[in-house]
Amino acid sequence: MLLASYFSALVLSIVLKFWFIPNPQSISSPKHCLSYSNSSLDDLITCLDAFTVPPNYYNVSSYQAAQPTDTELEAWKDVIWSMLDTQAGDCSDIILPEALDKYYALTPFFDLNSTTSYCALFETTSAPVVSDYQNYTYVKGWGVFVVPASPGRNGSRHVHISAPHPQADIFTSQQAAAIFALARTKSLLISGRFRSAFRMKTECITTTKQLYYKTDPTHDVNEPFHAANRVILEWQTVNGGCPSKTCAYVQMHGKGASSCPDDTIFISSGLGASPSSIAWYTNTTLDIPARRLRDAARSVFLSSSSFPSPSIWRDISLPSDSSTCTILTATSNVFGRLVNGVPENTVCTTAAEPLSGNVTGQFVHIEQAIVSREREMYEMWAEVFRMTWSGADEGEEVV
Ligand SMILES: *[C@@H]1O[C@H](CO)[C@@H](O)[C@H](O)[C@H]1NC(C)=O
Ligand SMILES: *[C@@H]1O[C@H](CO)[C@@H](O)[C@H](O)[C@H]1NC(C)=O
Ligand SMILES: *[C@@H]1O[C@H](CO)[C@@H](O)[C@H](O)[C@H]1NC(C)=O
Ligand SMILES: *[C@@H]1O[C@H](CO)[C@@H](O)[C@H](O)[C@H]1NC(C)=O
Ligand SMILES: *[C@@H]1O[C@H](CO)[C@@H](O)[C@H](O)[C@H]1NC(C)=O
Ligand SMILES: *[C@@H]1O[C@H](CO)[C@@H](O)[C@H](O)[C@H]1NC(C)=O
Ligand SMILES: *[C@@H]1O[C@H](CO)[C@@H](O)[C@H](O)[C@H]1NC(C)=O
Repeated sequence: MLLASYFSALVLSIVLKFWFIPNPQSISSPKHCLSYSNSSLDDLITCLDAFTVPPNYYNVSSYQAAQPTDTELEAWKDVIWSMLDTQAGDCSDIILPEALDKYYALTPFFDLNSTTSYCALFETTSAPVVSDYQNYTYVKGWGVFVVPASPGRNGSRHVHISAPHPQADIFTSQQAAAIFALARTKSLLISGRFRSAFRMKTECITTTKQLYYKTDPTHDVNEPFHAANRVILEWQTVNGGCPSKTCAYVQMHGKGASSCPDDTIFISSGLGASPSSIAWYTNTTLDIPARRLRDAARSVFLSSSSFPSPSIWRDISLPSDSSTCTILTATSNVFGRLVNGVPENTVCTTAAEPLSGNVTGQFVHIEQAIVSREREMYEMWAEVFRMTWSGADEGEEVV
């Protein structure tokens, strides 16, 4: 009797899962994103993106309450490391620490488009909010992290893709996810907070003309997104290092039409436009991923016959190509500084030094106009990544 009702409940829940797919506006909890997304990583990321903590949401006390405690921060770092290590194929070798299980789920996820299984870590708690952007927000907003469930020894490029500015840089979360899946890269990290979720000036990057906020994870070191990036860097360092041909840390950004208007895509490695920086970008004895990416992107996008409208597609540049673009070079990006050899305890105050010998080009910062972030460009972008970094699937062994 009990057993029978258990089975009928089970059948009912399976039927509901397939028949009762809510529409995105009515989803009040990120937990429901799993059934909504129906085996599409793109839909899962779009659904989760709608819970990004909106602009002007926090005050001093609610920001404090949303930040991880020391224990939670350690747990967050542990689970990121454990996910990078996963080999099991079904995520069963990843431990979600107890300190996180109130707020986060770790789940296998199969994506039909790339016919690949992933392990996804995402927040499950939400609260109603009044905002132009959404009706519900994450309670914590630490972010989303995804890795392939069976990376194998050869399985993927050791390219770590991230989207630090969800919603502010519209569609970069979805674009990063699509490139991650289609180019079979190693990890996907998406911030859970709008960059101005807490409109309080960061104490980290304070020297530029631009005002940066505490919830901007590219200019503040206390954001969980930055903590996750530090773990990714440490993990990669002890797992073969980051050889130029197969590995990089890539950030996807979006720019407005009026900033650097001559460039549709502007790529940098966190060095600026000073003579020594330009000498680095143009030094042909160095094998610079950003330069390979530029060349691949030019050949894929600028020569494509299927290209939508050449009039809205402008150039693809590095700082050394574009004398008109000096503002989007990412010199104050805290993770960029760290990858470029600046010690962690000084990334807020010290820029990377092109002549230090520490800058290897592993950090790649991609700014792009809206046309480049459209869904029609996903496969072209994936091709650009496959051309720029090799994986073992092209017959080259990934260390
Ligand atoms: C779920 O995906 C399958 C396979 O693509 C499709 O046939 C089905 O219609 C989808 N269901 C919903 C409700 O979107
Ligand atoms: C901060 O925001 C929280 C949540 O919205 C609210 O309950 C609280 O009263 C606010 N505190 C102050 C000092 O404004
Ligand atoms: C918020 O809810 C309203 C009413 O249901 C809906 O029209 C709107 O599209 C929702 N907004 C978002 C961003 O989901
Ligand atoms: C790695 O690639 C080699 C050569 O292509 C192949 O023989 C081997 O089975 C692959 N290993 C895994 C774990 O996929
Ligand atoms: C699904 O895969 C196709 C073919 O690889 C690709 O063109 C398309 O952009 C993918 N869709 C998404 C949403 O990633
Ligand atoms: C190019 O880089 C190499 C290796 O770091 C260095 O020895 C050389 O001086 C650089 N050349 C220029 C023109 O900066
Ligand atoms: C270069 O790297 C070394 C070793 O990590 C570090 O001590 C030094 O401060 C770095 N120098 C610069 C200018 O980044």
